[in-house]
Amino acid sequence: MQTIKLGSDGPTVTALGVGTWAWGDTMFWAYGKDFGAEDVAGAFKASVDEGVTFFDTAEVYGFGESERLIGQFCKQTSQPVQIATKYFPLPWRWNRSAIADALTASLERLQTEQISLYQIHWPLEFILKTKDFMEVLATEVKKGRIQSVGVSNYSAAQMSLAHQYLAAKGIPLAVNQVPYSLLTRQIEQNGVLEKARQLGVTILAYSPLAQGLLTGKYTTETVKSLQGARRIDSRFSPKGLKKLEPLFSTLKDLSEKYDKTPAQISLNWLISQGNIIPIPGAKNANQAQQNAGALGWSLTPEEVELLRLKAPKS
Ligand SMILES: NC(=O)c1ccc[n+]([C@@H]2O[C@H](COP(=O)([O-])OP(=O)(O)OC[C@H]3O[C@@H](n4cnc5c(N)ncnc54)[C@H](OP(=O)(O)O)[C@@H]3O)[C@@H](O)[C@H]2O)c1
Repeated sequence: MQTIKLGSDGPTVTALGVGTWAWGDTMFWAYGKDFGAEDVAGAFKASVDEGVTFFDTAEVYGFGESERLIGQFCKQTSQPVQIATKYFPLPWRWNRSAIADALTASLERLQTEQISLYQIHWPLEFILKTKDFMEVLATEVKKGRIQSVGVSNYSAAQMSLAHQYLAAKGIPLAVNQVPYSLLTRQIEQNGVLEKARQLGVTILAYSPLAQGLLTGKYTTETVKSLQGARRIDSRFSPKGLKKLEPLFSTLKDLSEKYDKTPAQISLNWLISQGNIIPIPGAKNANQAQQNAGALGWSLTPEEVELLRLKAPKS
C-alpha cells in the first residue's frame, strides 16, 4: 500500500484518504434520501478491505453523526484505522478550555483514546486565536490524545503563522486541508501550495472530485436526479457542464490508456504531484472501491501538465 507521512514528522497514513462529510449529513448531502447508514458502512468496509485506512471527519459533519458512525465501524474491524477530525471555532467557544472539551467529545463519539490528526476547520481569528489553538494542541500531542496538528482553509500567511506558533512548542504543523482538484486550483496561485512544500506541510485536498463532477457521470440528463445543494451549483448546470468538455475528452483518453475511470485519473493527478493526499467523499462501497484504484500507479509529469492545461481556469 502506498503511504505518506503527515507533515515532516507525523503519523504515516495511506496516500489516499476517505472524506466522510456526507455520512450523516442531511443538509448538504441529503443523507437518508438516496443513501443511508448501510451504504456508508459499505463505504467504510470497502475502503478498509482495499487497504485505504485514513478517514477524514469533523465534529460538525451531521452534528457529530459522521464521527459516531466511524466510531461504530472501527469497532467492527480488526485493522488499524487512522482518523483525522476537526474543531469548529463556534462563536461561544472563545476560550482555550473549549478546545480540549471538544476534543474529548470527538474522542468519545469516535470511541477511541487517540486520533492521528486534529485540525482547526476555519481560520476564524476573531473567535479563536490560532496561537491559542496551536498551544493547546501542542499540549494534546504531548499528552498523546492526538498524534499531529493541522489547519484547514488557511492562507499561505495564516499557515506560516500557525507553523511558527507550533514550532515554538517543538511540534511541526502537519497539514493544511484546502479545496484542490482539477477544477479548483486556487492554491497553485495564492501561494499555499508553494509555502506548504517549503514548510514540509502536507496538503489534504478536499472536494478532489469537485463534488462528483470529475467522475464524468453528470450530464444534462443525470443532473436532474441530484439531491441536496448541488442542484443550485452553476458548475452542474448545462453551461457549466459544457465548459468541461475539453477536460473530459483528455480524461477519457487517459482512462483508456491506463484502464482507469475519470475519477481515478483525477485523484491520481493530485497524488502524482507529491505531498498531496486527496480525501474523496465516498457514499457507498462501489465509490470507495473505485477511488482506492487511484493508488499504486502514476500519471507521467507530462500528463499531469496536460490535464492542468485542459482544465478550465479556476
Ligand atoms: N475542510 C473543509 O472545509 C472541507 C470542505 C469540504 C469537504 N471536506 C472534506 O473533503 C471530503 C471530500 O469532499 P466532498 O465530499 O466535498 O467532495 P468530493 O470528494 O469531490 O466528491 C464526493 C462525491 O462525489 C461522488 N463520488 C465520489 N466517488 C465517486 C465515484 N468513484 N464514482 C461516482 N461518484 C463518486 C459522491 O456523490 P454523488 O454520488 O452524490 O455524486 C460523493 O459524495 C469531505 O467528505 C470532507 O471530509 C472538507
